[in-house]
Formats: sequence, structure tokens, C-alpha cells
Amino acid sequence: MSTSNKELSRQIGLEVGSICGKYFLDLDHLHYGYWPGDLPVTVANVKKAQELYTRFVIDRIPAGVKTILDVGCGGGHVAKELLGRGYEVDCVSPCPHLAQKAAELLGDACHIYQCRYEDLQATSRYDLILFCESFQYLDMNQAMAKCEELLNPKGYVLICDYFRKDVNGKGGGSGGHKLAKFHGVMANHPFDLMCSMDITAETAPNMDLMDDIMRQVVKPVAEAGSRLIEDRHPWLYKVVAWKYRKKIDKLNTKYFSGERTGDSFRRTRAYLLLVYQMTPAGLGQGQGRVQSVGQSASTPESVSATT
Ligand SMILES: C[S@@+](CC[C@H](N)C(=O)[O-])C[C@H]1O[C@@H](n2cnc3c(N)ncnc32)[C@H](O)[C@@H]1O
Repeated sequence: MSTSNKELSRQIGLEVGSICGKYFLDLDHLHYGYWPGDLPVTVANVKKAQELYTRFVIDRIPAGVKTILDVGCGGGHVAKELLGRGYEVDCVSPCPHLAQKAAELLGDACHIYQCRYEDLQATSRYDLILFCESFQYLDMNQAMAKCEELLNPKGYVLICDYFRKDVNGKGGGSGGHKLAKFHGVMANHPFDLMCSMDITAETAPNMDLMDDIMRQVVKPVAEAGSRLIEDRHPWLYKVVAWKYRKKIDKLNTKYFSGERTGDSFRRTRAYLLLVYQMTPAGLGQGQGRVQSVGQSASTPESVSATT
């Protein structure tokens, strides 16, 4: 699949996710939920978990920040929360459907750039650039170069997203940049790491929920539909099943084999909240200081969330 086809199918996947999430569960956000130990992992609690995630991210915005660029703003609900907390916010969204939803929600309060972040041409400068589970979709080098261009002096980048650990086996889907590659990219851009929190444990339950929905709902519904087609149009069924057998096998393995669970996510992914500050000058200082929020100084990825 070419890059642009891949990008298009991701955008459409997010659009479908947003429509279904809103219709069936009244969800506003497109990101994972944050599951503290005392919140039962149930479909009914997904909305609450997403709200906790939003609060968790916003609470980590450094003091003194006034202006924020929300990159990959989804339906605009994170931006809405930011506005409610008194920040000035602009948004970036390459997806026309989501950009439209965000525009309806935010009105004139924000400027929404409808384009890929990598292609953004903006005259404004920001104190913080936010990637709320959107960093995994971007070209890392282009994104960080764009941050250098759009940040005020000593501005911040806040990334909350998951990365692929250097372990054998795919597991937990295909998303996320390789963590080692990400560190390599950051070493070539003038940023200091100010905060690193590992929230893999608090986000992995999303995968168990998704796995449950796929196996308890989507699979039986798909099987019932396929039985109906086999009964009504046996020849059509045979042709389609044969022609697309590889794709069908792939989908079965990907979604219904129990490969995408919380356990495989914990093994193969690191879900991190990272805050970087742009250094006044000089490249290659990216892994300098590390200060975890509310905790003592630490090394990257070593801090577990406590809220
Ligand atoms: C998982 S959603 C997260 C949405 C929102 N930030 C939230 O937390 O609910 C990923 C977002 O990244 C956006 N995105 C994907 N590729 C992008 C790109 N190249 N530039 C900017 N945004 C992008 C998608 O349109 C989508 O809004």
C-alpha cells in the first residue's frame, strides 16, 4: 500500500471510529482511556476513562504556557477543554470530517488549519505544541523541524502517545513509532526532555476491551452475516471467500485471534507522556535534563503514572 493510501485508510478509520464512538457510547475523544486501578474496565466506563486521560494530559502542561497548537485535534474536544482552562488554542486536522466537527464545536474560538502538520504554513507562534495521541501518524523528523519553526523561544512540545519497544513479535497492532528511532530523531533536534511518564499500565486495558468487543460482538455478527450470504448467494459467497481468502485470513488473525490484548500491548508498547523544551541554541541536547512531574529526577521512560 502506498503511503498516501495508508494515510487515507487511517484517516477513514479514525472518522469511522469517531462516528461509531459518538453514536454507541457518546464518546467525544479519539484517544485511549486512562484507567486508574479503581476504575472497572467496562464499556460503560470508556467515556470516563477518556475524560481522565484528557485531564491527565492537560494537568502536565508546564506553568507559564499561554498559547497552544493542538496537532491532530480530532473532533476538537481536547481543544475545548484547553479553552475552558484559559489557554489560547489553534488546531491542525488533515481529516475534513473531523476538522468540520471541530469547527462546529469550537466556532471562532480557534483557528483550525485543515492540513497535515508536516505541511502547515502558519504565521503564529506557540508556547506549546500538543500531540495528543497524534504523534504516531506523523513523520517524526518533519514534525520536530516544524516544532522548531512554530515554537516561541523556550517553547514546549508535549507528546502523549505509544511507541514500539524493541521486542520480538508485533502484538497489539501495528501503530506507534519505534521508540529507539524516536530517541534518535530527538537527539538531532534542540530539545531537552523535561518530563517522562510511562502510562502503559493505565492505557493497556483499552486493548482488552477492544479484544472483547471484537470477539464477543464483531466476530459473531460478521459470521451471522456471512452465513446469510452463503445461504442466499452460495456462488457469490464461494467466489468472494476464495478471491479474498488471504485478506480474510489476515483480518481474522489481526482482530479475532486474541493477539491484540492488554498483555501484548504491555509487552510490545510503551505509552508515554513526554514534555520537551526547546533549547535556546545547539543541537543534540535532546536527552539532557529529565524531571518527572511531581516526582524526583529520573531517566526517560522510568516513571510510572501515579494519578
Ligand atoms: C487518535 S486521533 C487523536 C485525536 C485527538 N487528539 C484526541 O486526543 O482525541 C489522531 C489524530 O491525528 C490526526 N492526524 C493524523 N495524521 C496527521 C497529520 N499528518 N497531521 C496532523 N494530524 C494528523 C487525525 O486526523 C486525528 O485527529
